Amino acid sequence: MTIKTIAILGGAGFVGSCLVAKLNDAGYQVKVIARRRESAKHLILLPNVQVIECNIANTYGLKDAFKGCDAVINLVGILHESGKQTFEAVHHQLPRRLAQLCEALGIKRFIHMSALQASNNAPSQYLQSKAAGEAAVSELNKKLDITIFRPSVIFGRGDSFINLFANLVKFLPVIALAKPDAKFQPIWVEDVAQAFVNALDNTATVGKIYELGGPQIFTLRALVQKVMTVLGKERPIIGLNDRLSMAQAFMMELMPIKLMTRDNVRSMQVDSICSTAIAPELGVEPTALDVVVPEYLLNTDPRSAYDGFRAAAGRAIHLKR
Ligand SMILES: NC(=O)c1ccc[n+]([C@@H]2O[C@H](COP(=O)([O-])OP(=O)(O)OC[C@H]3O[C@@H](n4cnc5c(N)ncnc54)[C@H](OP(=O)(O)O)[C@@H]3O)[C@@H](O)[C@H]2O)c1
Repeated sequence: MTIKTIAILGGAGFVGSCLVAKLNDAGYQVKVIARRRESAKHLILLPNVQVIECNIANTYGLKDAFKGCDAVINLVGILHESGKQTFEAVHHQLPRRLAQLCEALGIKRFIHMSALQASNNAPSQYLQSKAAGEAAVSELNKKLDITIFRPSVIFGRGDSFINLFANLVKFLPVIALAKPDAKFQPIWVEDVAQAFVNALDNTATVGKIYELGGPQIFTLRALVQKVMTVLGKERPIIGLNDRLSMAQAFMMELMPIKLMTRDNVRSMQVDSICSTAIAPELGVEPTALDVVVPEYLLNTDPRSAYDGFRAAAGRAIHLKR
């Protein structure tokens, strides 16, 4: 494989922004395909990056955008359904269409983002739809050079997991925690992005599905406790049983901003932990959460003052350390 130009969908998101920066630094030409140019404007200044505004439902637009590309990376994903944005459409039908388009255009390399514990028998629609997406993409395994990644929860500057708990700890006197004993193996966004970059041109990764997890396993309660320790705040944690966890999520679904849904609670019924260590051919030694989280929760990076300005301007948070 000799890859020079890569189209990336979902490139303006949390993982995408980190990956695009790494691909840019590695000298690849990167086409970020975004539904709103505005959401990718933090990437425009990168010298090897071109942002293309395109609705992913528009196959002609995608065909045009994919012209001259040697690889396609799909990171598009949602945690909650809303309107036409269903798990079926985003996690199953979209990757199927993208893989078929790659085949039609003769683009061999396709890298797809799934999620740890994706399975047809998973308890949540999120995980079931991720499994359906993997299966749809894998149907073209003989025709395309496909690699699929399944990370546990991903942390890093701008994440929506650790930061969510940090905000709850800052503003609530007591934390009522759904599924407190659910287990996670959090992995740093830079390690996830590095695994993608290292896999891109490595034939040993073709046809493989890789789990990605960090060096430590935490219960949700332990993670929230860690966030409190970093912030120097002590709050009582009330662990909710399964029935109350679902009731809390139901109440949250009624709020204008969805922090958590019942489907998210169902996802936590299976522990998000890897069955093996990160495969050696990915060349990633995962970084511990303790090394990274204090830096962004306490804003010890001198450039972090700009994050507040970016957030206020509706721009993505700068991800590089
Ligand atoms: N973060 C985690 O802990 C985690 C763990 C396991 C797996 N994953 C998977 O990793 C991938 C990236 O996650 P992330 O954390 O970077 O999420 P994110 O920040 O929400 O980014 C998702 C990206 O997908 C795009 N997108 C969503 N729906 C779309 C649609 N209907 N049409 C076009 N674009 C759409 C978003 O575009 P806009 O910018 O326009 O909204 C954004 O660029 C997802 O597939 C996710 O399921 C994430």
